[in-house]
Amino acid sequence: MASSIAIAPASSAEWTPSSWRTKPTKQVVTYDDPTAVTSALTKLARLPPIVTPTEIVRLKSSLKDAALGKAFLLQGGDCAELFSYCSDEPIDSKIKLLLQMSLVLIWGSNKPVIRIGRMAGQFAKPRSSPTEKVDGKEIPSFRGDILNGFDVNERKPDPERLVSAYFHSATTLNYVRGQLASGIADLHNPLDWGLGHVRDKELQTRYQKIVHSISDSLRFMRTIGADTAGQLQTVDLYTSHEGLVLEYEQSLTRKLKHPGSHSPSTNCTDGKGWYNTSAHFLWIGDRTRQIDGGHVEYFRGIENPIGIKVGPSMKNDELVELLDIVNPTKEIGKVTLITRYGEEKVGAMLGPHIEAVKRSGHVVVWQCDPMHGNTRSTPSGIKTRHFSSIFSELSSALRIHRDHNSFLGGMHLELTGEAVTECVGGSVELGEEDLSLNYTSYCDPRLNEKQALELAFLVAGHYRNDRNDRRI
Ligand code: PEP
Ligand code: CO
Repeated sequence: MASSIAIAPASSAEWTPSSWRTKPTKQVVTYDDPTAVTSALTKLARLPPIVTPTEIVRLKSSLKDAALGKAFLLQGGDCAELFSYCSDEPIDSKIKLLLQMSLVLIWGSNKPVIRIGRMAGQFAKPRSSPTEKVDGKEIPSFRGDILNGFDVNERKPDPERLVSAYFHSATTLNYVRGQLASGIADLHNPLDWGLGHVRDKELQTRYQKIVHSISDSLRFMRTIGADTAGQLQTVDLYTSHEGLVLEYEQSLTRKLKHPGSHSPSTNCTDGKGWYNTSAHFLWIGDRTRQIDGGHVEYFRGIENPIGIKVGPSMKNDELVELLDIVNPTKEIGKVTLITRYGEEKVGAMLGPHIEAVKRSGHVVVWQCDPMHGNTRSTPSGIKTRHFSSIFSELSSALRIHRDHNSFLGGMHLELTGEAVTECVGGSVELGEEDLSLNYTSYCDPRLNEKQALELAFLVAGHYRNDRNDRRI
């Protein structure tokens, strides 16, 4: 962690959207042309909000339910969203997948599901190394479309991309809003569950039963007229991204009026607060969560619900200190802890973290990210994740929460609605030799639509069994 002896503790000084600039900040970007950066940021600061306080506060209030065990949070999308994904097909397939997964989870958990896409702004990637070797040449790493391009000739950070990120976010969200309002999530339309790929007959029967049960429930609701209040026509889908590029986030942070019934997270006397209007939900990555760092400083001042990635290097005291800084009023629903230890470490790490947070009096949403601690390289150097490791970390998290009288409030996945071949295993039975068939991720390997849906079936099944066990 960067040393910051001469710098005041994050929580003691006055916060402004730019106070993060006084702190040591990781993953900073150096541009060749500072004037072009200033002009891009000036333009961003004038553009209208992409999301509104009313939506942000509505999400925070739903997350309060997740923190209290009354709802489940499903968050998913690409690792690195590209500007080129701003196109109808990839967006449609992601919306449909998140919808189907959420239906399965509602069926399994008996709770409403809150949907957040890692989309409409997930353009920035933290990198372990600033450079990489391509064809024997050392070049800057790809840091996401908001900063530079994947093409080796576009690796120099370009300030114009900051503005482009805004327009791609806004266009994606505009299309999502339009599609939802036009009935893409209308459950009167038959859903294609496509279970033909499940070769194991027993498994296929099990999944088929779930699908029948969901279809029966929907039919029943239609028959008795319980679907006339509009609930089956549309759903909420919120947006999120890692708040990594603080210049960008600062430019979209606006002092706006609180919606009617909202009791603000931060001190304010004029009925207004600072909202990050680039997305409904933002999270701090595992590489930028230093107590005295710029990212934590920025995040402590905004009204949005926020996430914090919690990896295996997080100490119990550090976790509580972080919560005290970003959520001094202990507002429930404000913070989601996104745990990502890896299947081997979750057993030793999660229990002590749960207990430390309990003792602190903070009530958080506990969300499991079973992806980022389970990335492996194949002998030929391809980054992948095993479906079994992903499900293993998830089921350990479910069990450990239960053992500690806590509960898992959600899951955070890297997924896509396309038929990619990036993670191995699952009932599609993808092997390492299949990875090159359709590996299109520019960063981490994602679950394809069949693997993602299968994970939802498995988690739903776990909840059902759990309820049956408790009944006995
Ligand atoms: C990510 O979510 O893509 C990511 C980089 O995660 P983490 O910060 O947990 O490594
Ligand atoms: Co990732």
